[in-house]
Amino acid sequence: MALLRLENINKWVGKEQILKGVSVKIEEGQFLAIVGPSGSGKSSLLYILGLLDRPTSGSIYYREKVLDLSQTEFISKLRNESLGFVFQFHYLIPELNVVENVMAPQIKRGVNHKEARDKAMMLLERLGLKGKEKRQIFEISGGEMQRVAIARAMANDPEILLCDEPTGNLDSKNTHTVMEIFKEINRKGTTIVMVTHDLNLAKMTKGVLEMLDGEIISYTSLETEK
Ligand SMILES: Nc1ncnc2c1ncn2[C@@H]1O[C@H](COP(=O)(O)OP(=O)(O)O)[C@@H](O)[C@H]1O
Ligand SMILES: [Mg+2]
Repeated sequence: MALLRLENINKWVGKEQILKGVSVKIEEGQFLAIVGPSGSGKSSLLYILGLLDRPTSGSIYYREKVLDLSQTEFISKLRNESLGFVFQFHYLIPELNVVENVMAPQIKRGVNHKEARDKAMMLLERLGLKGKEKRQIFEISGGEMQRVAIARAMANDPEILLCDEPTGNLDSKNTHTVMEIFKEINRKGTTIVMVTHDLNLAKMTKGVLEMLDGEIISYTSLETEK
């Protein structure tokens, strides 16, 4: 079943049409890369997939139920409970330490302190950050910050992880580490959509959607037959 499906999405910003009749289906278990040149509409599409922005026209289905995007409270709840986000810039909260940043989305959802901490510690260990839990954000490296951001995105067990150039600020070693983490997260059942302009990274996913001038121009499956 498609977890998320866009049907004939159009997005206008002023007099410019930045998405032109885009239809895309995100199947459960997919690890999809969205590629294309700068300005082709990748981020705009990801924001609509992530229910962070509304299209000018077109329909969005979650588990094959059409969403009423005017129900903003319901949409926020669905977004907070079912989707996780990782951006090029990590957006961690500098006033909170590492573990507190990972706990924050759980606390917001009403999870008790101990449970949130246990979950955060487990995620940080899984992402190779054991021992760094109490560091301030400015006391860890860029690669570590991005791993904390991934831990935070995973804290509420999202069904879909949406990433926009998640390795854009990282060197090749940290990029490799983050890609291995994504593959592991995907193997364990989380569906991933990743915007990247790096074709070598796109090759590590299960499918590549290519965009040009606000349109999807190709889809290539990379899943090997058993
Ligand atoms: N809020 C906005 N206001 C004006 N133009 C925008 C806005 N968001 C995106 N655009 C334009 O839409 C096009 C697609 O942008 P974007 O989705 O960011 O592309 P990509 O992520 O592929 O680089 C670009 O021409 C960009 O200038
Ligand atoms: Mg972009």
